[in-house]
Amino acid sequence: MPMVSMRQILDEAAKGGYGVGAFNVNNMEQIQAIMEAARETRSPVIVQASRGARSYAQDRYLYHLMLAAVELYPEIPVALHLDHGNTPEVCRSAIEMGFTSVMMDGSLMPDGKTPSTFEYNVKVTREVVEMAHERGVTVEGELGVLGGIEDGHGAGVSGLAHLTDPDQAAEFVERTGVDALAVAIGTSHGAYKFSRKPDRSVLVIERIQQIHEKIPHVHLVMHGSSSVPKELQDIINQYGGKIKPTWGVPIEEIQTAIRYGVRKINVDTDNRLAMTGAIRKVFYEKPEEFDPRTYLKAAREAMKKVVMERMIAFGQAGHAGDYEPIPLEEMARRYKNKEL
Ligand code: G3H
Ligand code: 13P
Ligand code: ZN
Repeated sequence: MPMVSMRQILDEAAKGGYGVGAFNVNNMEQIQAIMEAARETRSPVIVQASRGARSYAQDRYLYHLMLAAVELYPEIPVALHLDHGNTPEVCRSAIEMGFTSVMMDGSLMPDGKTPSTFEYNVKVTREVVEMAHERGVTVEGELGVLGGIEDGHGAGVSGLAHLTDPDQAAEFVERTGVDALAVAIGTSHGAYKFSRKPDRSVLVIERIQQIHEKIPHVHLVMHGSSSVPKELQDIINQYGGKIKPTWGVPIEEIQTAIRYGVRKINVDTDNRLAMTGAIRKVFYEKPEEFDPRTYLKAAREAMKKVVMERMIAFGQAGHAGDYEPIPLEEMARRYKNKEL
């Protein structure tokens, strides 16, 4: 099947009451790991590339790897999504390349660090919605500010002052027409999210429910949703790495968030940890080895395992065959006729 819009994947997830993992990719092995995990669990999937990924791999390599993926896995619905587009121009270039979904992260200024104003956010997001929907492409916006600064997609804020406000979310959706909305509920990007197992005072899952009540037709997105399992930290540290003790978002909290209305769950860090641990292990156990395939294969296997576990936990497993893809032209027609 051709690549599908993220909107279709999330509409189906809403109907079925499950969540869909959105996994970041930068290279062939990561794409292969996700596709193999999707096949084994029969999952629809969202593959996402950040600006960093697009420049690391070069856009066209990534896009053509994705074309190979949809050709080789025709039974899997796949959306290709731009993660954290920082300007309408960056979103436009992704749409022109063939991405079926884009995120316009107008919660931050184009530097990816400075919190923006609500009016700025509405303006840039609305602009992207207009250009994307004309082509049947999905748009994710973001309201509220995530913590974490090291990756350029967070303002480094702490505390709960920047959580998404439910009333403002309703106004934002009304004025922009986004399909999906990333909300801030206390998570941040990267491995160092929480210094102890998070409770509801720092990971405010109830906020999802409050936002969902105001905008039930918009798909909610949780960024910074890696669980940072201790086992993955331990493998890295056992083989010479130095990950400081840290906590991520517990799987059971994500499952509660899905019950409260979250449909898209962004996971990157867990896969990075899994790949790095596997590579370190090969280097340690086979110091004579120098064929990159040996350790890249181990890394790919380790990532596939994590992705499969997430697909099962989020509930998307088993749903790949539920629906026929809607062509982007038809999505565009539906947006134009206000059917979506
Ligand atoms: O949101 C952040 C993702 O983990 C992508 O990170 O910008 O380093 O590719 P990146
Ligand atoms: P993690 O760093 O928790 O994996 O979050 C990834 C993310 O939100 C990508 O947009
Ligand atoms: Zn993110």
